[in-house]
Amino acid sequence: MQKPFDFVIFGGAGDLALRKLIPAWYRAYREGQMPKGSRIFGTSRKQEQVDGYRDMVREAAFSFLRADEIDNETWEEFEQCVFGVYINITENDEHWSNLAKTLDEGNEERIFYMATPPAVFSACCKNINDSGMISENARVVVEKPLGYDAKSAEAINSEIAQYFDENAIFRIDHYLGKETVQNLMALRFTNCMFEHLWDSKSIDHVEISISETVGLEGRASFYDDAGALRDMVQNHLMQLLCLVAMEPPSKLNADSIRAEKLKVLDALRPIVGDDVAINTVRGQYAAGVSGGKEVAGYLEELGKDSNTETFVAIRAHIDNWRWSNVPFYLRTGKRLKQRCAEIIVQYKTPTHHIYPDSAGKMIPNRLVIQLQPDERVQMIVTSNNLEKHETELVPSVLNLNLTDHYEKFYSDAYKRLMLDAAANNPALFIHRNEVDAAWKWIDPIIEAWQRPENKPHPYPSGSWGPQASEDLLKEGGCSWFNVG
Ligand code: BG6
Repeated sequence: MQKPFDFVIFGGAGDLALRKLIPAWYRAYREGQMPKGSRIFGTSRKQEQVDGYRDMVREAAFSFLRADEIDNETWEEFEQCVFGVYINITENDEHWSNLAKTLDEGNEERIFYMATPPAVFSACCKNINDSGMISENARVVVEKPLGYDAKSAEAINSEIAQYFDENAIFRIDHYLGKETVQNLMALRFTNCMFEHLWDSKSIDHVEISISETVGLEGRASFYDDAGALRDMVQNHLMQLLCLVAMEPPSKLNADSIRAEKLKVLDALRPIVGDDVAINTVRGQYAAGVSGGKEVAGYLEELGKDSNTETFVAIRAHIDNWRWSNVPFYLRTGKRLKQRCAEIIVQYKTPTHHIYPDSAGKMIPNRLVIQLQPDERVQMIVTSNNLEKHETELVPSVLNLNLTDHYEKFYSDAYKRLMLDAAANNPALFIHRNEVDAAWKWIDPIIEAWQRPENKPHPYPSGSWGPQASEDLLKEGGCSWFNVG
């Protein structure tokens, strides 16, 4: 049985707390997953937000929750566990000791959630420490972006490590909390038919794609400093790549899973210098039609000139026995044609052809694992076109739509991860070594992109990105498989 906890959100009035964290705790409460006696504290340095904290979070949560989740009576019970607290993160004053006193009178399990910019992580951890709040059962959750490059990530990790042990540091990547991403491991490691055909002997290439239809969403200043490579590839896409490519862990625990993921990151072939232009594409959205309406281009939305990429495509290789010569194509972008996250495993075609005229025209088998908007697993197989008398080979789809199958299926990644942090289960959180290895692979790409000739390719909003991204796959004799 999970123990009650105290959960302190630094940045309790910020977008992440209001949009994701508090609604996730409400869901957990409503579903009976939040242990009785648990408390949630949201900090702010504006007294009016502290005074009106419950009203503020209620209004925000009701605008983000689905209509069928909102139940006033349950919310009123839930909000009795929610408290606004005045804290100025960088100022060590009596408010910190007041919070420490409140926690001392509460639950043993303590979780501190850094929903703040990384620039204040260090000051915040120091004040948590100096006010005596780091008890034996205290943990800290840190949000991405963890750094800007390997060096800055190392500095942040070292600062946090002054106060918390590595096993008490929970680095969050919300993609790992998606039930559909969890299911990827179940699919791979419980179904022999996939695992036995999961290597360079059978697989031609793998595509991992996260496409979004949204633009800047009011995050212009953060996004323009980061860009798609740092915002999406260094974390979400590389984590998905690890789950697809890793060896089966010997156990389903944090140490085994993290060790296998790290081996994948360490085996990634570096893309450096002139190879960057050959193996990567960066794009930036221009005006176009997205979601049925006309939308402005990135620069117009930003209001200034910028070379920041809103689209990335990369051809990666994992230099190990299993994946030798199998390209992994990674792609992500904003203002693309559809919102979708999917993994396509494309198999090799038969080498001997018994059907007339089929040479060079064989349809490859594809395993399609769609993570969002629907969770689906599809296997594309070749069959005869039954409507014709003559033999005509056509692709047919074996389709498992898990969203339809589980009517009540609704995944809230933050809920899953916060419950895990509260239960002290780090399996779905990222180890410092993984962050480090991912940045080491990303840094040379960023460096090469800074050359003046490396400007992002413009692409119209509502498209699948720049032509150069299509060309990247054409060179390997394939094309992006957009299930949509
Ligand atoms: C976040 C990025 O980590 O993930 C956002 O900062 C992005 O830019 C978001 O929109 C995508 O997450 P999801 O769960 O909506 O696919």
